[in-house]
Amino acid sequence: MIEIEAMGGGEAALDALESLARTGAGVSGEASRGRRRRWYRLLVTNPFAGETLQPVVWVALAGRRPVGCLLGVPFRGRAGEVSLEGHWGVDLLVDPDFRGRGIGTRLLKQWRDSSPLALGLGITGTALRLELSLGWRQVPLPPRLVLPLTARGGLLARRCRRSPLPVARRGPGPSGLDVVVSTHGPRGLDQLYDRLAPGWPCHVCRTGAALRWRYASRWRDGFLWVSLLRRRTLVGAAVVRIDAGRWRTKMWIHELMADVTSTVLPCLVGECVRLGRSLDVDLVEGRVTGRALRAALSALGFRNGRREDTFIVHARDPAMARLRPWHREWFLTLGDSGNL
Ligand SMILES: CC(C)(COP(=O)(O)OP(=O)(O)OC[C@H]1O[C@@H](n2cnc3c(N)ncnc32)[C@H](O)[C@@H]1OP(=O)(O)O)[C@@H](O)C(=O)NCCC(=O)NCCS
Repeated sequence: MIEIEAMGGGEAALDALESLARTGAGVSGEASRGRRRRWYRLLVTNPFAGETLQPVVWVALAGRRPVGCLLGVPFRGRAGEVSLEGHWGVDLLVDPDFRGRGIGTRLLKQWRDSSPLALGLGITGTALRLELSLGWRQVPLPPRLVLPLTARGGLLARRCRRSPLPVARRGPGPSGLDVVVSTHGPRGLDQLYDRLAPGWPCHVCRTGAALRWRYASRWRDGFLWVSLLRRRTLVGAAVVRIDAGRWRTKMWIHELMADVTSTVLPCLVGECVRLGRSLDVDLVEGRVTGRALRAALSALGFRNGRREDTFIVHARDPAMARLRPWHREWFLTLGDSGNL
């Protein structure tokens, strides 16, 4: 008899997750402790959690043995004037010895039926099939955008699909903006977010607290901030991650916060690219949605990459469900997924 227990983000839940990672996914002791630190951050230090929105870990138990799990990571967002809140579904896993008995389905139903808005990104085949059959809708997302900076990057990009977008290279104009590259977030993120959010479609909030939670103090993981200031006021901010592999170095663009209609966006991307060149980056890649933002990036030389992302949405809250078809248009970056 398998029971599903809904736990908060406390020690007992983290113990269950760590135990399942070892037995169900063959994760080594050291790696499972690394995962535990990540779960702790996602659940315990999550800035979106509050009285009405709690982190949840659904654990399937065979007696006392954890044999399945799913994390519900809280987020808050906006769709125009409407506030959104719910949970990202993260790290769905069923012990291989217990698969095909409906445990995954039961875990997903718990998430669906208790979260006002249930979002998932980067879903695998079986999970996607189950989720679509349980009422989630898939929001079509465009391919990643890539920009090769070296010949090696060009070879990597050749494996990407050719861009249907016109590629007209245009350098950033004379900006008169101050550029700061740092390991910590700049001041003024709240004000920047407040200025930009009304122009974005549905999105997860990028307030200063949310961004610092995602990225601050993570320079060891390769995260860097690129900020643009006009007379000491923050007018654009990007978060990139430098990922030095054995054969290539990639720059992942995790956040891109700038007004697409101004010259700030090309300057910001230009500064990211300049930083990438100085660090011998071969290829820059980002998950970017929104027509205006994609057009601006394609004008800077970005082209369509190979990867398309799987994004699913389920709105239980009638107020949010009524907003359909808002969920057709989302502002998403690599920073979204609740899975960092
Ligand atoms: C994806 C995953 C969580 C599914 O878990 P699961 O417990 O096997 O899921 P279910 O048993 O509910 O459903 C799996 C299949 O068994 C079938 N099934 C469901 N209940 C069943 C039952 N009582 N008896 C037999 N089959 C059953 C389902 O129809 C489904 O069939 P399908 O694969 O043709 O769609 C599991 O395969 C897993 O851990 N995979 C590795 C990690 C992963 O990919 N996670 C998803 C990340 S997005």
